[in-house]
Amino acid sequence: MHAITLRFLAEPTDVNYGGKVHGGAVMKWIDQAGYTCAVNWSGLYCVTVYVGGIRFYHPIRIGDLVEAEARLIHTGTSSMHIAVAVSARDPRTNDRLKTTHCIIVLAAMDDDGKPTAVKPWTPSTTEEKGLQGYAIRLMELRKDIDLAMRPFL
Ligand SMILES: CC(C)(COP(=O)(O)OP(=O)(O)OC[C@H]1O[C@@H](n2cnc3c(N)ncnc32)[C@H](O)[C@@H]1OP(=O)(O)O)[C@@H](O)C(=O)NCCC(=O)NCCS
Repeated sequence: MHAITLRFLAEPTDVNYGGKVHGGAVMKWIDQAGYTCAVNWSGLYCVTVYVGGIRFYHPIRIGDLVEAEARLIHTGTSSMHIAVAVSARDPRTNDRLKTTHCIIVLAAMDDDGKPTAVKPWTPSTTEEKGLQGYAIRLMELRKDIDLAMRPFL
């Protein structure tokens, strides 16, 4: 499958100093959703290479029903580019709000811990083709950004 959704309740242990869900908890869910999507697609162990474009649109409340939807939008040789959208709602209602979005890239690993090829994903619908184009444009943009943001320590 090229898409998966994880669902769970935001727990009291996920709280930040303002009483809402901690940003670190959201990033962990993004990583877990991306990881599950990549492993499911490749059938291999995968590691996170890159996380970018993370935007927190709205806070998540403790007790909210959270959905982390991960969708494969491009494959390279060993890499899988995955769009993750997090949404949340009060379980007493059906008003789901998109709270966070980002792109995560994972690489499939062989038994020696080296990146290894995955089966290519081919977009079939117009929407999927658009998403792949978006992933490729981001990849090109990252080349310049990576240079500008290279570690200085
Ligand atoms: C992932 C890792 C093995 C890649 O090693 P590497 O020597 O850069 O290997 P490669 O150059 O073959 O890169 C692997 C893939 O990552 C991609 N990649 C590398 N840097 C990237 C970046 N900044 N953004 C997006 N993708 C990137 C490469 O394009 C390549 O994809 P491709 O095979 O589809 O072309 C290595 O960086 C690593 O072990 N990182 C730590 C991973 C980790 O601990 N993650 C957190 C816990 S899971």
